[in-house]
Amino acid sequence: MSEVVSVSSTSVEIFDGTVYREDGLLPRTEYERRGMVFTTGPTIGERLARICTTNDVHFGETECGKFGGGPAQFWSLPGERPYPTVMNESVVMDIAHMEPDLVVVRGDLTNAGEPEEYDEFFRMYHGAFGDRLCHVRGNHDGYTGREFANTPVQVVDAPGIRIVLLDTAREHQSFGCVSDDQIDTTVAAARAASTPTIVMGHHPLDVPGADLPADGVCVDDAERFARALASVRSIVAYSAGHTHRCKRYEYAGLPLIETAAVKDFPGAFGRYDIGTSGISYSVHRASSSEAVVWAERTRAMFDGFYGTYAYGHLHDRSLTLPLER
Ligand SMILES: [Fe+2]
Ligand SMILES: [Fe+2]
Repeated sequence: MSEVVSVSSTSVEIFDGTVYREDGLLPRTEYERRGMVFTTGPTIGERLARICTTNDVHFGETECGKFGGGPAQFWSLPGERPYPTVMNESVVMDIAHMEPDLVVVRGDLTNAGEPEEYDEFFRMYHGAFGDRLCHVRGNHDGYTGREFANTPVQVVDAPGIRIVLLDTAREHQSFGCVSDDQIDTTVAAARAASTPTIVMGHHPLDVPGADLPADGVCVDDAERFARALASVRSIVAYSAGHTHRCKRYEYAGLPLIETAAVKDFPGAFGRYDIGTSGISYSVHRASSSEAVVWAERTRAMFDGFYGTYAYGHLHDRSLTLPLER
């Protein structure tokens, strides 16, 4: 079985039991690799920066796959290392190999908000990326009531792009919120930038068309926030995690993007290549052999539904954004 994981203007990733990556391809060109035929995306011009994103890394989790009120169905087997460690270690190595300018981790850093879980996250990611790391909490980090990684708005620039990262989590709740202050600060930051802006947070927005399988940013906040984002043409996307699926859709012309989890199938991370004429988004998989074993085992989660759900379609994992909408 071969699958095209993602295809950008100049690269492809194919999974056929191992993760195959190739760079240096020509834009808008048909290729055949590993038995798969695909066409590369439109050119983004000269690459100015590369930003990698992860989410739902869940350090400290020991079991998953609870279905219909039943018990967990997946856990690391005797002799195996904890699966969050395995998956994150691979993703950190894969991302480091891609030499990003910035790495953004968007919540569910931990399983239960425990300090030692956060320490493990921070040691691994900050150890690898240092000042290039930018991170924020998710509902798993906040709902036990401990407060960390909860800066309301972070604004970070890389060549050709501004990233605005929001804390959408609140203590003791699983759904997300965005305050008026956060909305105003985001819009002002985007308007002040001389580059396009991508806005990020843990929770996706519960707007018409999102069809969320879990609580997102609550309806009232989400509609107000989405309208504000859509009104600024230099904001080219809102990008989130939390649902553990790869999915993309639009609200009033604004692309909304969700990237699947690191911690189980497919072991995903996102990559934004910022160019002089466009932005290429592609999803990639944890490539270590240990990570592939765990990811492929958990593809069967939720009575086999998880594989299709989490992976999405190729157009959910590969897209080109304009520099202005
Ligand atoms: Fe999560
Ligand atoms: Fe979450």
